[in-house]
Amino acid sequence: MTQPPIHTVILAAGQGARMRSQLPKVCHLLAGEPMLAHVVRTAQAVSSQVTVVVGHGAAQVQAALGELGAAVQWVHQAEQLGTGHAVRQALPHISAEQRVLILYGDVPLVRPETLAAWLAAAPHSVSLLTAEVADPTGYGRIERAADGAVQAIVEHKDATAAQRQICEINTGLMAVPGAALQRWLPQLNATNAQQEFYLTDLVQFAVAEQVPVHAFAAPSVAEILGVNTRVELAARERTLQQRRAEDLMLAGATVADPSRLTLRGAVAVGLDCELDVGVVLHNVVLGAKVRIGAYCVLRDVTVGEGSVIEPHCVLEQAELGSHCQVGPFARLRPHTQLANGAKVGNFVELKNAHLGAGAKVNHLSYVGDAQVGAEANIGAGTITCNYDGANKHRTHIGEGAFVGSNSTLVAPLVIEAGAFIGAGSVITKTAPQDQLTLSRSRQTTLAGWQRPKKDAS
Ligand code: UD1
Ligand code: MG
Repeated sequence: MTQPPIHTVILAAGQGARMRSQLPKVCHLLAGEPMLAHVVRTAQAVSSQVTVVVGHGAAQVQAALGELGAAVQWVHQAEQLGTGHAVRQALPHISAEQRVLILYGDVPLVRPETLAAWLAAAPHSVSLLTAEVADPTGYGRIERAADGAVQAIVEHKDATAAQRQICEINTGLMAVPGAALQRWLPQLNATNAQQEFYLTDLVQFAVAEQVPVHAFAAPSVAEILGVNTRVELAARERTLQQRRAEDLMLAGATVADPSRLTLRGAVAVGLDCELDVGVVLHNVVLGAKVRIGAYCVLRDVTVGEGSVIEPHCVLEQAELGSHCQVGPFARLRPHTQLANGAKVGNFVELKNAHLGAGAKVNHLSYVGDAQVGAEANIGAGTITCNYDGANKHRTHIGEGAFVGSNSTLVAPLVIEAGAFIGAGSVITKTAPQDQLTLSRSRQTTLAGWQRPKKDAS
């Protein structure tokens, strides 16, 4: 059966008081992105149009979504008078031939596959996503007739003691033909325990019109759990992290301990990558056979095939070629590029620096605003003085150059290809190709010198 076009309406106007936060609830981060971003992407995967209803902190919510926000229709709900009232605000954008899928901005883990299966199960009906839970406290209960037909959703606060025994609950997610919404939403009233316009009352209109109400059981309760407190946020984060770690493992990565891996934003791995414990990857692409040691943090980083990041490294906005070696204890700051086979050792900081193929900065150095040629070797303790207190300047180090330990390279500066810098030099002028350049006071020994002695008293 062909399906009508799906228009998803995401409810995100509530305050989320129990988060105890100045940030609107749906802006809180889950896997490094606002909770609402997850729901919007899920919605986009199954629908042709997405509308988000915002109210509390609307401007902040819109700003938090960035580019993703440009692809959705924003609708304002000035006062939060209930879920039915919230969907009513979207009515001007809803057409009769659409089917409207209602999602919540604070129920972020529902999978597109689940939604697709649910929507396809009864493509033209009023349909509820339901779940069986051990403790239904707080949820709307699904009331069924003797023949099993759904009769109503009864909110916890309105339910009788008998109705409260029902463990089949309303997840809140619902699909309703646009034409039915146009007919029913204006008729909602707020005569109930919470004096709210309940979206769930639509079920009664359907029953009254003898429109069948379909119910689809969510395949896992974990998917439909919401976020009301930061405790629940952490629990949803864990579920999502486990799910994402499993995706990486199934894509061919070895994960030392999925409970000690954190994945944020988009993360892609090649075959046979290895991720040790405590690794945080945020918008990262790893080639095949990349190894990331324990307690590394990578953000906006691309790593080529076979490269190794030893433990305790922090990399941000860096691009690494293949077979590079970094760390342990290295810091790669924004706009760092390592060509194939480059090596960065312990206690080295790079910023806006390009290392050529096979170049080495092995120990205790700062290389900033610099170009280092292929196969150059930067000795321990080398510092590029890139900042004169007012401006930044670049250092160019040619191919195969050798910079002796504890050299101070005062930029702007050129060290030509094959140049050799004597250890301990302060270099302020061009060091010519293939020559030894050094600036160092000569070593002297004073003949007959004696150690001072304590005064006799
Ligand atoms: C709702 C359902 C209940 C279901 C439960 C699942 C109704 C009447 N009840 O109850 O059957 O079991 O969800 O969690 O629908 N929102 C707005 N504007 C409003 C009110 C709410 O945007 O005026 C948004 C909230 O921000 C939230 C969502 O809608 O994302 C649900 O609202 P909430 O107040 O949590 O509804 P519940 O009382 O939990
Ligand atoms: Mg709720």
